[in-house]
Formats: sequence, C-alpha cells, structure tokens
Amino acid sequence: MSHGYVAVQWTRRKLIYDGVLLAGVSAYLLLFMGISHWWAAAANVPLETDGAAIRAYGSAAYILLHLTLSIGPLARLNPLFHTLLFNRRHMGVMVFLLGFLHVNGWHLPREPWSWLGQKAPQFPWSFHGALNWYNDFGNREPLVSLFTSNGHFNDFALFPFELLGVIGLAVLFVMAATSHDFWLTNLTAPVWKAIHMAVYVGYAALVGHVFLGALQTNQSPWLAGLVLAGLVWLLAIHLISGWREWVIDGRPLQPDSTGWVDLGPIDAIPDGRAKVFALAGERVAVFRQGSELFALSNVCQHQNGPLGEGRVVNGCVVCPWHGYEYRLETGASPPPFTECVPTFPVECRQGRVRIGLPPRPPQQA
Ligand code: HEM
Ligand code: FES
Repeated sequence: MSHGYVAVQWTRRKLIYDGVLLAGVSAYLLLFMGISHWWAAAANVPLETDGAAIRAYGSAAYILLHLTLSIGPLARLNPLFHTLLFNRRHMGVMVFLLGFLHVNGWHLPREPWSWLGQKAPQFPWSFHGALNWYNDFGNREPLVSLFTSNGHFNDFALFPFELLGVIGLAVLFVMAATSHDFWLTNLTAPVWKAIHMAVYVGYAALVGHVFLGALQTNQSPWLAGLVLAGLVWLLAIHLISGWREWVIDGRPLQPDSTGWVDLGPIDAIPDGRAKVFALAGERVAVFRQGSELFALSNVCQHQNGPLGEGRVVNGCVVCPWHGYEYRLETGASPPPFTECVPTFPVECRQGRVRIGLPPRPPQQA
C-alpha cells in the first residue's frame, strides 16, 4: 500500500453501493417531480417545470449532504453503519453533481446553435438551472447578474443567499475534484485532510443558502424549520459521538500486576466485528471471529483511520477510510505492501476477554 497502491477500485461491492445510490437519487427526483405535477394539477395552476427541477436537484443534494456527514458519527455510535463508511467519497461526489445540476440544469448551451440562427436541441429531462432560469428576464450575463444584482449585504432578510450557494458549490467542487487517491498521495495526507475538513465551511454556507432562500423566494417557514432540524441533527450526532470517544479515552483500562487487562465479557464484542478499548495511551480494536479473538492497534498507518470500524475480509481488516488492509493475526499488510500495526496478546478466560501488555512490535509479513 505504500507505493503504487490504488485504493479506489471498482469492486462488485462498490458497484452495488453506487447502483443503490443512483437508484435512490433517481427515485427521489422522480417522486419530487411527480408530486409537483400532482400538486399543480390539484391547485389548477400551470407547473413551472424548470423551477420544480431546480428544487428537486437542490434538495436532493442537500439531503444527501446530510446523509454523507452523518455516516462518520453514526458509524462511531453503532457498528451497523460501518458498511456505509466504505464508499462515502462517492456520495460526496454525487452531492457535488446534484448541486451543479441545480445551478446549471441539464441543457445544451445556446451556442453554437444561436450562431446558426437555431435553437439548441432539447433532450429528455432537460431544464434550465438556477443560474439561467432566474436571470431569464434580464439582459445581463447570468454570472454577472449573480454577483451584482443583489447588494443587500447588511440586511439579513434580503441577503444575497445565492452567493452562499456559490461558496457551498465551490467547496463541493474542490472536494469532488480532489477525492481520488491520486490527490491524496500527491497533496500529502495532512493537506488533503485539511481540504476535506472545509466541507463544514461549505455546509455552513449551504445552511445559510437554503434557510434564507426558503424565507425569501418561497416564504416557506416549514422549509426553514427543516433546515434548522438538519443542522441540529448533525450537531447532536457529532457531539454525542465525540463525547463517547472522549469518555472512552478519559478512562483508560489499567493492567493488573501480571500485565493483563480485563476487557469484560466476550458477548459484549459482536461476532465478526470489533470493539474499541482505550488502554494506557493507546486505542486497541479487539476483533471477534466466532470463538477466536484478535487485538490490533486501532490506528491505521495511512491516515490514522479507525481500524475497529473496518470489515474483515479473508483474515484481514480493511480500513474503512481508504481500504488499507492488515492481517488480524500479525498486523502486517499482505504482500507486496509493507505497512504494519502493533498487535496484542489476547485471550478469553471463563467468558471474559483479557489483553496482554506491552504490545507486540509491528511485524512485516
Ligand atoms: C452557484 C451556486 C448556487 C446558486 C446560484 C443557487 C441558487 C438557488 C436559487 C435561486 C434557489 C431558489 C429556488 C426556489 O425555491 O425558487 C435555490 C434554492 C435551493 N438551493 Fe441553491 N443555488 C446554488 C447552490 C446550491 C447547492 C450547492 C446546493 C446543495 C448542495 C443548493 C441547494 C438548494 C436548496 C435545497 C434549495 C431550496 C429548494 C426549495 O426551495 O425547495 N444550492 N438555490
Ligand atoms: S486507509 Fe487511509 S486511513 Fe486507513
């Protein structure tokens, strides 16, 4: 995994994951448009299909962004969510694509057809995005209009909420563009991580965009309320999972006089998964495979990813962040890779798990 390792590979599992993601997004968009048509028909008013599509794509991006940001803390709170950690980056890229379509729409550019005196051909599902649609009655370039038409920067109620959308989209673009492992390797892990923490800046801008947009264009207090509910949900699960980790780290388990630490009953570790414990100065992931136990450092050698949240495949734990693998027995990556993490002696006595200190030094395969 050190050199030439390609972590993003199209495995069958990833294809299924992406298929489910695409199907879910398509179903949401279809449902949104269907309900909009039904609503307009019931109210006996013509439907602005461009406007409905803009809302459908914008809300799909916004909801998916919440799902993407929820996965990390949820996986820390419940191992059931570990599977979702695996392909989180593809979800992030999908958020950007949906946000881009919300702004740009699905349509061919007017040029070069306008130069030939013709209209650009339409294709099914095409619509004008927020940038063009809201500028259609004006005579200025959409981008010029976007940045200059609303100067109410000192007025909360009239604030140009579209510019907050621009900040959000710019952050999503940088993240989607650098999401591939090529950039992870070339930018170095700390820079890459710092860039990806900017998602919270982008999220804050998008909360402002949708909250103010809901109040200004739709005058929809219930949508503004939903935006706040989403914000409270994300804050709550981040705080709860952070607090749980802080509690675990704050009460490190101490060894007895023989150097062994009691970790509690074996039943507390779900079969096929791991439980993470804090020992003096170190987090340890104890994996249970039937009646067999394995204890490894919880810290991945790549970027400190939480190995205790990884799946076990062919006797190796797969890091949930970028797929580095370590053998459960030795802590060594399978050849030709050379990374390895420390392991610990571990045993089960009278139904209780015990781990021995100090750790075994990392050993290469
Ligand atoms: C250049 C960037 C952007 C511009 C110019 C823009 C523009 C707009 C406009 C004009 C509206 C009002 C639509 C209406 O309700 O009539 C809107 C609403 C919205 N936007 Fe954006 N947007 C941008 C980026 C984004 C991004 C990146 C997201 C999500 C990730 C997003 C999510 C939403 C949502 C959820 C709504 C509310 C939809 C509703 O009313 O149901 N926008 N945006
Ligand atoms: S593979 Fe990147 S942190 Fe583990």
